[in-house]
Amino acid sequence: MKHPVRLERQNGVAVIAIENPPVNALSTAVRRGILGALHAALSDDTITAIVIAANGKTFPAGADISEFGQPAQEPSLPELCDLIEASHKPVLAALHGTVLGGGLEVAMAAHYRVAHDQTQLGLPEILLGLLPGAGGTQRAPRLVGVDMALDMMLTGKPITADQAQRIGLVDGLAGDDLRDVVKALAAETREVRPTRDQRQHLLDGKQFMARIAARRAQLRPKALAENKIVDCVEAALLLPFDAGRDIEREAFTDCLASPVSAGLRHSFFAERRAPKFPELTQTGPRPVNSGPLPVNAVGIVGGGLMGSGIAIACLDAGLPVTLVEQGEDGVTKALDRIGAHYQRGVETGRITEAQGSAALTHLTLTTTLDALNAQDIIIEALPEDLELKQEMFRKLGGIARYGAVLASNTSYQDVAVLQQASGRPGDVLALHFFAPAHRMKLVEIGVPRNVDPQAVVTAHALTKMLGKMPVRSAAVPGFIGNQMLVAGRRAADRLLLDGATPAQVDNALRSFGFPMGPYQIQDMSGLDIGWARRRAQPEDPDPRYLSLADRMCEAGWFGQKTGKGYYVYAEGERHGVPNPDMLHLLAEERRAKGITARKFTDRQLRDHLLLTWVNEGARLVGTGTATRPSDVDAVMVHGFGYPRWRGGPMLDADQTTPFQILRRIEILQKEDPSLWDIAPLLREMAAERGKFADLNEA
Ligand code: 3HC
Repeated sequence: MKHPVRLERQNGVAVIAIENPPVNALSTAVRRGILGALHAALSDDTITAIVIAANGKTFPAGADISEFGQPAQEPSLPELCDLIEASHKPVLAALHGTVLGGGLEVAMAAHYRVAHDQTQLGLPEILLGLLPGAGGTQRAPRLVGVDMALDMMLTGKPITADQAQRIGLVDGLAGDDLRDVVKALAAETREVRPTRDQRQHLLDGKQFMARIAARRAQLRPKALAENKIVDCVEAALLLPFDAGRDIEREAFTDCLASPVSAGLRHSFFAERRAPKFPELTQTGPRPVNSGPLPVNAVGIVGGGLMGSGIAIACLDAGLPVTLVEQGEDGVTKALDRIGAHYQRGVETGRITEAQGSAALTHLTLTTTLDALNAQDIIIEALPEDLELKQEMFRKLGGIARYGAVLASNTSYQDVAVLQQASGRPGDVLALHFFAPAHRMKLVEIGVPRNVDPQAVVTAHALTKMLGKMPVRSAAVPGFIGNQMLVAGRRAADRLLLDGATPAQVDNALRSFGFPMGPYQIQDMSGLDIGWARRRAQPEDPDPRYLSLADRMCEAGWFGQKTGKGYYVYAEGERHGVPNPDMLHLLAEERRAKGITARKFTDRQLRDHLLLTWVNEGARLVGTGTATRPSDVDAVMVHGFGYPRWRGGPMLDADQTTPFQILRRIEILQKEDPSLWDIAPLLREMAAERGKFADLNEA
């Protein structure tokens, strides 16, 4: 491996240049490299000043997160920062790109800082459930004052180079000649200026403490990293630098060991791993008709809720959209829907009127399917009716230009049938957006067996252009997300049958961190949707099938839209109270099935559903539907509101250990054999005492 740090000497100035792509993270090798270069520069009598800089797109964007949780290696980042600060020769940092976390801490330990005018600077550790752990909590208040330091650490939001200069975080700005500017400055600089000795922002102790008290009062007592940040900043005022830094070290270690940080770090990597499709290493996108991008024009069939949402996502990305609807009425409704979205944007100040109009100029609405003969990708967003979709793919197969990708936004249908109907199977795949499509980040790309990898890469490129997170799924009905959803709902229904109430299940999941429970969601999206799907399928022969939802639909209770579902809603209200008639139906069904209701604790309900998701996730990975366990987690977090700070069910399984999970499922299986079909991969993991995480990098 190439050495990640180089030392260059010129005109009495030593430049320590970091080169560890992609983001110059401060890995052990980088820290050792900086230390070695620092020693060399300090012991070289011809050197009067030292510049720390980075090659590539950015100054270090932080500590190397992938090393967290592994045994600590020397030198630690705090030690390195202290050594930089203690240098008897002036140290100048040349900053560019995204100077974040540990990267900014290195910069703050240097004696002077100059930034490229487009630099972003931030302390985003909080987004990983952490705090700056290399002296940042002690140096930031000394450089920029208590308020700004707390803002940066508690929000994790970066600031611009201009702002950084205004608040005194950097001493000067430069353009593309940054390195030369800093080298010239270094050649003239003789004085060291250790940040630890800066006291100007600590002089008004009373004011400082008042700000600390105000921030502390705003925090939830359980928010570990947030509270520790405030404690550490308080220590910056009250204690000598070294004592404050020791407090910070201990706080960092506590946060690193917290489940919240483990969950957030897992999510960070899961979100970046999911878009890595094997096809990307094999080929590029399809050739386009015209234009510089992998996708230059999009066709959409169907302007309902999904079709309109997808159209908005494309328009927002600046892509021309041709949307085909049936009849003038269909066109008007789609235009109203999309227009209303931009109108709301203008009214709420999210966009300007000009931006709203500009987006709409890229939209063509038509009733003519033949208008879809030139686009790079066509997305079908018709209702979930296989025959309807088949017919459409038959037509699109004849109309779409040679090389166009044909994507279905289906949730449940068999993509192989659509491939066949189109007569051009290599062009067909699924692009499963989540509603509302313009807001939800997740898109499942359903990859059928004989699709052309170039088509997959084009679909992938489109999702990235829309700012979405693509997750690869085999093109099986339900993909990853809806199979997880269905498994969870089936398990939740069993809990109702055995004695729980919908409100109890909803509360149990909400207290776990979900924004809503499964029955609240069904009420919100409409019970009639699932009912229509169930009626189109053969009847479930399981004697423990809960028919409550079917009975409710027969009674005309479709949820919020009818004012009655699992909950009853007062006019215009989105929060309901448990529907007593529904509870009556539930009790009746239990009686008819000879079941005596049991009592469940919230924890039991939650554990039951978690075990279900782990088992289903293991099945999806084992069958190759999901590429890796962390993709299941990414789908649960971004598709279904699984709390991001918990990481996802597969991380949870690793923390409990797959062995324990299997034991617990085996106990439940004895009570309800038809519910639990244990995934072979879970058994394998348990037998090998392995972890799902081992499969993430495979
Ligand atoms: N450590 C290890 N890997 C990192 C990393 C880090 N700090 N930051 C980014 N990466 C990796 C990503 O995993 C990704 O790897 P991949 O190519 O193998 O998937 C690659 O770098 C590129 O990252 P992005 O896809 O996110 O690239 P972008 O250009 O979209 O964004 C970024 C760049 C703004 C730097 C973004 O990656 C980011 O926000 N990174 C995290 C920054 C951060 O949290 N820093 C603080 C770390 S904790 C710390 O420093 C503790 C200290 O106080 C002791």
